Amino acid sequence: MVFNHCSDQIMNNESKMNVNIDQLPQSNNNLEKSAMVETWNLSKVYRTGFFLNQKLPSLQNFSLRVEAGETFGLLGPNGAGKTTLLKILLGIIRPTSGKAKVMGHSLGDRQIKQRLGYLPENAYFYDYLTAFEFLEFTAGLFQLPKEIKKQRIPELLSLVGIDQKTAKKKQLRQYSKGMLQRIGMAQALINDPEVVFFDEPMSGLDPTGRYQVREIILSLKEQGKTIFFNSHILADVEQICDRIAILNKGELLCVGSLRELLGTSETYHVTVKGGNYQVLEKWIDNLTTNDDYWTGILKGDHQEFMGTLRLMNAQLISLKLAQMTLEEFFIQQIKQE
Ligand SMILES: Nc1ncnc2c1ncn2[C@@H]1O[C@H](COP(=O)(O)OP(=O)(O)OP(=O)(O)O)[C@@H](O)[C@H]1O
Ligand SMILES: [Mg+2]
Repeated sequence: MVFNHCSDQIMNNESKMNVNIDQLPQSNNNLEKSAMVETWNLSKVYRTGFFLNQKLPSLQNFSLRVEAGETFGLLGPNGAGKTTLLKILLGIIRPTSGKAKVMGHSLGDRQIKQRLGYLPENAYFYDYLTAFEFLEFTAGLFQLPKEIKKQRIPELLSLVGIDQKTAKKKQLRQYSKGMLQRIGMAQALINDPEVVFFDEPMSGLDPTGRYQVREIILSLKEQGKTIFFNSHILADVEQICDRIAILNKGELLCVGSLRELLGTSETYHVTVKGGNYQVLEKWIDNLTTNDDYWTGILKGDHQEFMGTLRLMNAQLISLKLAQMTLEEFFIQQIKQE
């Protein structure tokens, strides 16, 4: 961590002092990758009650590093502290203790805020504005020049799949939740941010809406943006994240890629139609049958097994890696807690 700090510092100084970076010692690959989000022992205790004398810890010693270009998913049950963390990173609330940096700068730095995008959990939209007016309004908050606004708003509308005519006519109160969520995403991208924070971007959406939001996130990923999002929709997270973290009751339980967390099992679940017991029992553990179907855990090489099936005139119905799903892993982690 200390070294990474130094490398960020070196990069900053390099541009100021006009030093050629090739002349600096290239001893660590981290010189190429910079941390977009970094936290050290971040904690938040809310004060509640009439006299604000009750303490409610919602984030405890949270340390994390998210690299540039990563799509990072923060998972956790309701009340885990996900929104609290985003609000701290965006400088909306202050941490009680600990330290964090976004794009290498301290929290709340106004120049950095200009380069961030944010879709809140329960975004409030001005009912009587059209989508176009709303985007013009948000562009105004960033003081985007007219020419850029003219180009960016249609680009964003097309990214989120809303046609310009509708965007100019229809008021926000007339849109469905899925459409509003997409307009919210366009709003979060109006300043062409380098890091985007989405708080539960898929919650409350139907499968089509979730698919569309997922596609938008994937296209942002292709553009090289760093995406940090909160979610409890595990299937979506599984499909789009490079790395995930699980948070429960304010505590970080684990961080890593799906491969690191779920493991790389070499065991296969197999289902076969036809064949005979004497041969199949040599190949399949825990062999069970139902009508003409046999299932169990494959032993040995699956290519050779396919050859045996062909000889017996049996048919391979499915061959699946017997790996823990993210859902099973998530439940296991929360239960252990
Ligand atoms: N302004 C606040 N004042 C007091 N307590 C709060 C406040 N905001 C959040 N909390 C509490 O902090 C804890 C974490 O809340 P947070 O909203 O960060 O969780 P979350 O993981 O985003 O949950 P969800 O999945 O439901 O959105 C909860 O116990 C919540 O009740
Ligand atoms: Mg939340």
